[in-house]
Amino acid sequence: MIALTPQYPPYILDMKPGPQVKLSLVSASPRFLHELKRTHHNGELTRKDLGKNVVLMGWIQTRRDHGGVIFADLRDLHGITQIVFNPQTSTQAHSNADQIRSEFCLAIQGTVSLRPEGMQNPNLKTGEIEILVTNFEIFNASQTPPFPIENDIETNEMVRLEYRYLDLRREKAKAPLLLRSKLNQIIRSYLDQRGFFELETPSLTKSTPEGARDYLVPSRLYPGEAYALPQSPQLFKQLFMVAGFEKYFQIVRCFRDEDLRADRQPEFTQLDLEMSFINQEDVFSLMEGLWRRVWKEILNIELPAKFERIPYRESVSRFGSDKPDLRLSWELKTVTDIFKNSEFKVFRDVSEKGLLIQVLRVPGGEKLSRKDLDDLTPLGKTFGAKGIAWVKLNDPADHVNGWQSPIAKFLSSTEKDALIKATDAKAGDVLVFCADTPKIVGESLGSIRLHLGRKLQAFNESEWRFVWVVDFPMFQWDAKEKRWVSEHHPFTSPKREFFDTFMKAPDKAYADCYDLVLNGMEMGSGSIRIHKPEMQKEVFKLLGLSEKEMEDKFGFLLSAFSYGAPPHGGVAFGIDRFAMILSHRDSLRDVIAFPKTQRGQCPMTKAPSKIDLEQWKELHLVPILT
Ligand code: AMO
Ligand code: AMP
Repeated sequence: MIALTPQYPPYILDMKPGPQVKLSLVSASPRFLHELKRTHHNGELTRKDLGKNVVLMGWIQTRRDHGGVIFADLRDLHGITQIVFNPQTSTQAHSNADQIRSEFCLAIQGTVSLRPEGMQNPNLKTGEIEILVTNFEIFNASQTPPFPIENDIETNEMVRLEYRYLDLRREKAKAPLLLRSKLNQIIRSYLDQRGFFELETPSLTKSTPEGARDYLVPSRLYPGEAYALPQSPQLFKQLFMVAGFEKYFQIVRCFRDEDLRADRQPEFTQLDLEMSFINQEDVFSLMEGLWRRVWKEILNIELPAKFERIPYRESVSRFGSDKPDLRLSWELKTVTDIFKNSEFKVFRDVSEKGLLIQVLRVPGGEKLSRKDLDDLTPLGKTFGAKGIAWVKLNDPADHVNGWQSPIAKFLSSTEKDALIKATDAKAGDVLVFCADTPKIVGESLGSIRLHLGRKLQAFNESEWRFVWVVDFPMFQWDAKEKRWVSEHHPFTSPKREFFDTFMKAPDKAYADCYDLVLNGMEMGSGSIRIHKPEMQKEVFKLLGLSEKEMEDKFGFLLSAFSYGAPPHGGVAFGIDRFAMILSHRDSLRDVIAFPKTQRGQCPMTKAPSKIDLEQWKELHLVPILT
């Protein structure tokens, strides 16, 4: 039996029955002789309703034959009601009930009656009553389902996804989708109240660079040409601003052909938003209000009036990441200068070369075993670190015996004192070091920070730590391709102070762009945009686009900007990620009705699937079959 514990958010349990269904179905079983309407749902009837004649509809959860009397649990979206087929109530209903099995869909009519003493279920809202069935109609029989329709099943996810329509009959699987529906409603009402227009943009379109591979739709009418499915509606929303809508939003499907992970799907949903005549703080305060309302209405939690802000450089230096998980208080400290003249060659070399040495203080790290500490080296190596050094501080003041470490013998007393001062370390702590390029040190120690934080259960799990990461560099040098690439996307404006210099010194330019990070996950991203055609062309040029490429790819945008484009900016959030976090799940698949697997397939429809030779021909394509 599924427990009616609050898997469902309260607004579902409070709902009244939906539109009344009229019975006019053909069925093999005894039928009601007249049209009946559903009077209640299955999570509703209590002692107060005793004696009422009711009509309920739903699915058979379980059926138990108790020597002459048949009991069943009837389930619908709202809950479960026990129904009883007793020959003393109706011989015909009782004898026909013999054919009923789990997951049959039916309507019953009967009288609400009190369950006998000892048979009541205090965990169920309807646990005090049962319905003595006088009449019923089977809408449809059911095969035996491939897995039980119960909350806690061990069934393999592939099987659940193949029969997703049955999986979703389970309260636990359904709840995140109901929450998601509520989330969308809150978003729509919040933005509507603030004068936003919900406008739609095309799905068959042209490539928008968001850093992933496009899904392409070959054209039948234009041989050799293809549409791209949007990675985001970025350019269209900017064009809405040129058109003068001023405040746009859309809850929109985006498509990215990239390697999938637990927090990525090939098609996903964004809350996409754009505004004219605004600055970064306007975007922040609007969105903080939205997420505060969402947390209040869905989780009944008050978020702070203002979210934290942290500049990108500071985030990377303190947490080794631009997606800092602030539920863990541990921070990295830079100690490069301490080792300028060190006897420890590795650190001295790195210090002399002007690279970076950072240390992570792990409070209470004495609980870590030698193996736990040695395992940090392979973890660091995955990010390119040549080594990871550690010190167990049994007694920080005892420089001879109190520093347990493979590198202790190379460290001078002055260095040890300086380290204690820099980290504020105490007896029982562990220090973890990495010396390398800033990128390698950040990624290695950032990941070790999270790894050891989890191992030592040092996160404050009950916290919701939102933070805006701001002031990103405008460009990154792609060493492999030997060219500049945009850190966000090419439509992002440099900060005002870099307007005149970003072309000459792209490595020094910072952009007016921002990410919203929650508990270490990137939830959204946005920027103030370039709105002048000359500046947009300069950026394209820096990114290596020729005049012809600019015209072919973005001619329409440059043209639009030449007709008095207003200053504008916006943001896009991952709705799936919000739904995942709000419903305490750790996979996006749990909050998407019909998700793709890690390998981009749909086990139910079997998409992607082979297409006929005729269809290939129509598209002027030839499949290369292996
Ligand atoms: P960005 O590419 O950062 O920005 O995307 C915005 C947000 O969308 C979510 N997201 C995803 N969610 C699930 N699966 C994916 N594959 C996936 N990719 C992205 C993330 C991310 O923060 N046009 C810009 C926004 C702007 O500048 O206004 C954009 O798309 O939560
Ligand atoms: P080695 O001299 O290479 O055997 O290294 C001695 C110790 O320093 C070992 O514990 C290594 O893991 C550590 N180590 C080596 N290279 C680095 C580095 N770049 N950063 C931090 N620790 C390192």
